[in-house]
Amino acid sequence: MRVLIAPDGAAAAEATAARIAARLEAAPASVLGLATGGTMEPVYAALIDRHRQGLSFAQATSFNLDEYVGLAGDHPQSYRRYMREHLFGEIDIDPARCFIPRGDIDPEKAAEGYEAELSRLGPIDLQLLGLGRNGHIGFNEPTSSLASRTRCVRLSASTLEANRRFFDGGETPPTTAVTMGVATIIEAREILLLAVGAEKAQAVQAMVEGPVTAICPASALQFHERATIVLDAAAAARLEYRERYEPAGGTAP
Ligand code: F6R
Repeated sequence: MRVLIAPDGAAAAEATAARIAARLEAAPASVLGLATGGTMEPVYAALIDRHRQGLSFAQATSFNLDEYVGLAGDHPQSYRRYMREHLFGEIDIDPARCFIPRGDIDPEKAAEGYEAELSRLGPIDLQLLGLGRNGHIGFNEPTSSLASRTRCVRLSASTLEANRRFFDGGETPPTTAVTMGVATIIEAREILLLAVGAEKAQAVQAMVEGPVTAICPASALQFHERATIVLDAAAAARLEYRERYEPAGGTAP
């Protein structure tokens, strides 16, 4: 596990976008694994800037990590809508090659279909991840099996709380989601996880320096041969082995 620490969130997002862009420049037909959430917004904004300066996504394929169950694809909080608004609508990627788990069909069928698409078009070359405050990756909440595959999961109380702010007052936020499993995620050839802000510091410490355990699903990345963790100073604040980690900067890992 390689840990890179940037001075602030903007620099961490920029370092993350630079790595994705370098991968696409080297291999334009890459299969990218994509995430949603607040952390990814500046990463996608930086990729859109690079696209305007000539970076092409035309040959790429993408697989998103997860989707809420029960939201139509045009619901403002659906991850389909998020991806359209924050990335796909602004770049030249072929929409037919952008895969997101279906939240609007039987979740078991959605999960099965997603694993089938991943086996057909994968493995993922570069998987981008965010980190939940409770150590989740995708929607693999604490106690998720480290051998889990794409499936329907119940969201934890802490994730429901963190997400509540995005839903209108009168609306009940979804309590289940379809997510790629921990084992599905770590099949990617390379992993790039970005975590910023003090509220992620405890999960970062558990992921990087704690034991590998289903209580912190992100700790499974310790077993991955090519996992890079990009942090800002606030998210890195609780790490103990500081001399082992590097400043973020440069491009390809
Ligand atoms: C979303 C996802 C989640 C988020 C995580 C962090 O596709 O997979 O694991 O990456 O919940 O969310 P933010 O960035 O909003 O703190």
